[in-house]
Amino acid sequence: MASEEIIQKAEALRKEIRHHSYLYYVLDRPEITDYEFDRMYRELVTLETEHPEIVTPDSPTQRVGGKASDDFRKVRFGKPMLSLTNVFNAEELREFDRKVKASLGTEAVEYITELKIDGLSMNLVYENGRLVQGLTRGDGRVGEDVTANVKTIRTIPLYIEDAPPYMEIRGEVYMPRTSFVRLNEERDEAGIMPFANCRNAAAGSLRQLDPHVTAARSLDFFAYAIGETEGLDVHTQEELLHQLEAFHFRVNPHYRKWNTIEGVIDGVNEWEEKRRGLPYDTDGMVIKVNDFRQQEALGATVKDPKWATAYKYPPEEAVTQVERIIVTMGRTGVLTPSADLTPVRLAGTTVKRATLHNLDFIREKDIREGDYVRIYKAGEIIPEVAAVLKEKRTGREEEFQMPETCPVCGGRVARVEGEAAYRCMNPQCGGVVREKLIHFASRDAMDIEGLGPSVVDSLLAYDLVKDPADFYTLDAGELQQIERMGEKRAANLVAAAADSKGRGLAKLLFALGIRFLGAKGAELLTAKYHTMEAIMAADEASLQETEGIGKVIAQSVYEYFHDERTMELIQKLQRAGVVMEEVREETQGAAFAGEKAVLTGKLTSMGRREAGDIIRRLGGEVQSSVTKTTTLVIAGTDAGSKLEKARAQGITILSEEEFLRRAGLAQADEGNGTEPSLF
Ligand code: IVH
Repeated sequence: MASEEIIQKAEALRKEIRHHSYLYYVLDRPEITDYEFDRMYRELVTLETEHPEIVTPDSPTQRVGGKASDDFRKVRFGKPMLSLTNVFNAEELREFDRKVKASLGTEAVEYITELKIDGLSMNLVYENGRLVQGLTRGDGRVGEDVTANVKTIRTIPLYIEDAPPYMEIRGEVYMPRTSFVRLNEERDEAGIMPFANCRNAAAGSLRQLDPHVTAARSLDFFAYAIGETEGLDVHTQEELLHQLEAFHFRVNPHYRKWNTIEGVIDGVNEWEEKRRGLPYDTDGMVIKVNDFRQQEALGATVKDPKWATAYKYPPEEAVTQVERIIVTMGRTGVLTPSADLTPVRLAGTTVKRATLHNLDFIREKDIREGDYVRIYKAGEIIPEVAAVLKEKRTGREEEFQMPETCPVCGGRVARVEGEAAYRCMNPQCGGVVREKLIHFASRDAMDIEGLGPSVVDSLLAYDLVKDPADFYTLDAGELQQIERMGEKRAANLVAAAADSKGRGLAKLLFALGIRFLGAKGAELLTAKYHTMEAIMAADEASLQETEGIGKVIAQSVYEYFHDERTMELIQKLQRAGVVMEEVREETQGAAFAGEKAVLTGKLTSMGRREAGDIIRRLGGEVQSSVTKTTTLVIAGTDAGSKLEKARAQGITILSEEEFLRRAGLAQADEGNGTEPSLF
């Protein structure tokens, strides 16, 4: 039995972790470094491993791991989850307002407008502050139990302090746009059907039998309502939203209170365009009567409340023609078909191309060359074909066939069993090698500045690289053979490659282009194993036990590291001095945290690039010129107009020496030697 002291220690750690998770995930305002957080978390894990009897279901360590209930057990709601009536224009909103006022017999009605988040509604049951159940809406009367999966959503509290004995919190589970785009990219590479939009992706992720998979999908949650609840003293929607915030839920900040329906109409118009810039999908606004007594007096039909309605924005779509279907190659040799479109304006940009993902997608939608298609932007970013306008067909449209040979090397193209993707089967295919090199150097991978597709093409044409490790042995003199590659560019390229050596294990793992392993997966493996050596030594079972790593990824990583060619590449990278260990991004509280810095003039102790790296490593951002957002200028000798501009704007200016001191790279002044070194 664990002693009282240990039980209390664990409880104190849980409280601390809960608090810092809230600051980090919900408020986005961390007060401690990731490192300190990890240390606390690991301490709790150790305590709980040594004394399994002290683990509580609401412990922060229990977010991932529970079993999904057998095929999502059906559960009846105490209070049904209603849907909403829709309105589509200002006149219909005025009509809604007239009915509300007539029914209440008063003109004194306040409204709250909220964004209508495009996700799935969720009912969370809390007993004595503990999350005990998460249910999807289902048909509104009977929902599906997805408790194990909702627990993986970091912004959903597992325990709420000072909560009433029983409460049901309702809100929307959604997938942020960036996560959606990344997920679909991974699915394309893996030859799995992509999701049509963020909402479907969120739904698919919640209905996973393995909570590890859900955990890796970056879902999020906004709370906006309550179900059956006892003892909560709130009287208006506005008070409820405040109360939900006090319970540490995320509440969408863009709600507003209005005294008139004309105000509501202004609010709705204001968001029609603005919503495109949000990091998540919305499909309208919800208008709610603020006062709960008035809500009750208005009541509901079987399906919808009479005190609320949804203003739906028209989906942004365009019609254009598929001129051609072309095939391009991805980093793992997948051949991806895309449609070349007659250029058309859509949601603020001109669209010329839409991905068609794979042959199954084309067949399912029956997309042919020459077809007119309706297109939309998934997650407001990716142009997608919604449907073919078959009535516009002339009979001259051509069905697409996947090429039998690789458009790059002429090698055999085949469909891998069980996959929708076609791949070039030639491991030496120039296209695969090229894509791997481009991927390795790209921004999210090793981020080698100036090493984009056209430079990779030149390097290949001059036979200067065969694999990514060759980037690190490039010779500035040799590089100058390449057309338009002067002395300066060549030197910059060599320096940029050298700079990238320290990106760390997570970036390197992603950069290697291991099938199915995305940037997130690479981070998860890094957090568990810390070194390349440990990952290479891990067996499949151990890999699969990693939070967020499923069977498919584990198998792929294992196979990758048990291939002779991989061993050679890793050794070559190691010899080149590429860091094969976890590099912690410890920027919170770091010397340049939050600074937007400009470097000007000549530094004596190091190059500008190196100085830039130091600033970035210590939490700052480097800008190329002084703008309104600049917060700091580091001035070497012979600094010119940038320095003048900085002076004129009253921006803080550091000399080289001051810069080095702040970075912890030089001794502090005598008598002021108390500042700790950061290194
Ligand atoms: S209130 C009885 N507020 O829209 C009131 N719903 O079309 C029920 N939704 O099923 C919902 N954002 O999934 C409400 N701020 C918001 C919402 C919202 C999204 C969804 C919800 C609901 C659907 C109705």
